[in-house]
Amino acid sequence: MAVGQALLLNEEAVVIQLTPCLKRGVTLMFGFCMKGVLFDLDGVIADTAVFHFAAWRKLVRDHFQAELPDELEEKTKGVSREDSLKVILDYLQLTVSDEEFAALAAEKNEAYVDTLEDLKPAHILPGIADLISDFKQAGLKLGLASASKNGPIILDKLGLADAFDAIADPAKVAQGKPAPDIFLAAAAALNLQPADCVGLEDSVAGVTAINAAGMVSIGIGGAELAHASERFESTSDLSYPAIEAAWQANR
Ligand code: BG6
Ligand code: MG
Repeated sequence: MAVGQALLLNEEAVVIQLTPCLKRGVTLMFGFCMKGVLFDLDGVIADTAVFHFAAWRKLVRDHFQAELPDELEEKTKGVSREDSLKVILDYLQLTVSDEEFAALAAEKNEAYVDTLEDLKPAHILPGIADLISDFKQAGLKLGLASASKNGPIILDKLGLADAFDAIADPAKVAQGKPAPDIFLAAAAALNLQPADCVGLEDSVAGVTAINAAGMVSIGIGGAELAHASERFESTSDLSYPAIEAAWQANR
């Protein structure tokens, strides 16, 4: 049945505005449907996570002649620029002045933004463009819940700026991931209850944030994301039916 089509009940025509939820075949559950999808950006929409850590590595080499180990990458994933720098300075057992801290964070960002110069729609991770288009077609609301202050620029370069109904501003939330704030802000901006949303994440901190927000969490990555409601190895394994099923099973 199509949206807005008349339904005959006892020979009287009743026009039912079928919501995307009803249309998705969960009619019997009356309203119990996923209504919004909140995306992390780096490592979920685009493969920019590696550029972040490469920029940190360069900064540390240039300033402290030290090499960051691979294990530190996960600890900076999903975590704000400032919190990432704290993790790195802790690892190096260094203390710096507030001015030096701000200068280091700014320099890392410049190096990172330089690597984004050639970013284009071809850099959207496998399966994500189709997934976004399937969600939009079903009438779901889409929000961005990224810790990155570069989110809007990146979405623009990827040609995805118009696909999102809301972009939560990480500069305006009290606490970064693993706190739930950015996911709660994205759901509020979409006018949705947290329980009606799923969050998609590739980081340990991000999955923890989604869980703390009371949403169904979809982890994209390895065993480190075992705390996700459902886990997929890669973005190419994601599909709208699989995510809807994950929401139904874990809500
Ligand atoms: C997250 C990345 O998406 O954004 C982190 O996973 C990064 O590695 C954080 O530190 C903040 O990004 P930005 O672009 O504001 O420095
Ligand atoms: Mg990420």
